[in-house]
Amino acid sequence: MIDSLKEKIIEKTNATVLANESMNNHTTYGIGGPAELFVLPSSKQDLIDTVRISRDYQEPITIIGSGSNLLISDNGIKGVVISIKHCLKEIRIDKEKVYVECGVILSKMVRESMKNNLKGLENLIGVPGTLGGALIMNAGAWGGEISENLETIEIFNEENKITLLSKKDIDFSYRSSSFAKESILLSATFKLKKSPKELIKDNFDLARSGRKNTQPLNYRSAGSVFKNPSSKHSAGMLIDQAGLKGFSVGDAEISNKHANFFVNNGSAKADDMLALIKKAKNAVKDKFNIDLELEVKLLGFDIKEISE
Ligand code: EPU
Repeated sequence: MIDSLKEKIIEKTNATVLANESMNNHTTYGIGGPAELFVLPSSKQDLIDTVRISRDYQEPITIIGSGSNLLISDNGIKGVVISIKHCLKEIRIDKEKVYVECGVILSKMVRESMKNNLKGLENLIGVPGTLGGALIMNAGAWGGEISENLETIEIFNEENKITLLSKKDIDFSYRSSSFAKESILLSATFKLKKSPKELIKDNFDLARSGRKNTQPLNYRSAGSVFKNPSSKHSAGMLIDQAGLKGFSVGDAEISNKHANFFVNNGSAKADDMLALIKKAKNAVKDKFNIDLELEVKLLGFDIKEISE
């Protein structure tokens, strides 16, 4: 079935199609087993066609961006993994309106807006990942959230139709959104504010130096592993106070710089990272009676592996 799907996608699109592609090439952790079929569409039309064909074949579909918030199992992912990193790359700015396709890297979108003296996204400088991923998890940093200045989102829905949603159609909250699981995010528009260059630059510098001073940016990581359980308690502080900075399993280590960042020192396996996740979760539960919830998304694991 997957072989004939592969042939069909090759026949009908200009996408790059690879069988058993190792996902460690496509995640910031540098971790992950093979995707049964890995597709890199080269245009929006390719992407839509790939999704439509894969749905016809009833294969499970996983969409990824730059893989910056993912822990993928060493056993890989069944079905089709579609990366949007070579398509959906357009940015258009017209006065205070910014149109961005969902494969654009967030920092690029921040810089383009700043070039046009538009304020509202600069706190997000350095947040890794594509706009699509950022919208789904309502990425935020230094007081800003991606949903803040959002106006519309264009999606390819479960009925294979392109639809335009307005911000009010979606509930956004801390690191969460209510997009239907089957929706493929294509583009979004934002309304920003013309502002003095210096003001924007001050916010930008604050975010950039804050990130550099507190986060292990020179290591392979997926950013924050857990969500902060409340505004009073940060996951990093709790894991730190549980004494786990520097704790490691294989090449996976709880960062000495920020305890909510787990880093891959070379050849860490997904199982090593999962062991750290369980260790931190259990330690925080034992010491503080607080249940940490993952921010990083796990893909390809059995429910049993995750819950035991
Ligand atoms: N802290 C410790 N030990 C640590 C780490 C942090 O005691 O090892 C303390 C800090 O001293 C501070 C508090 O915990 O008092 C909060 O830490 P920090 O300011 O680093 O922020 P955070 O809550 O850990 C959040 C976001 C980050 C975002 C920063 C800056 C979450 C889960 N994380 O981190 O987002 O960059 O604020 O706004 O909400 C991400 O989502 O991947 C991410 C990196």
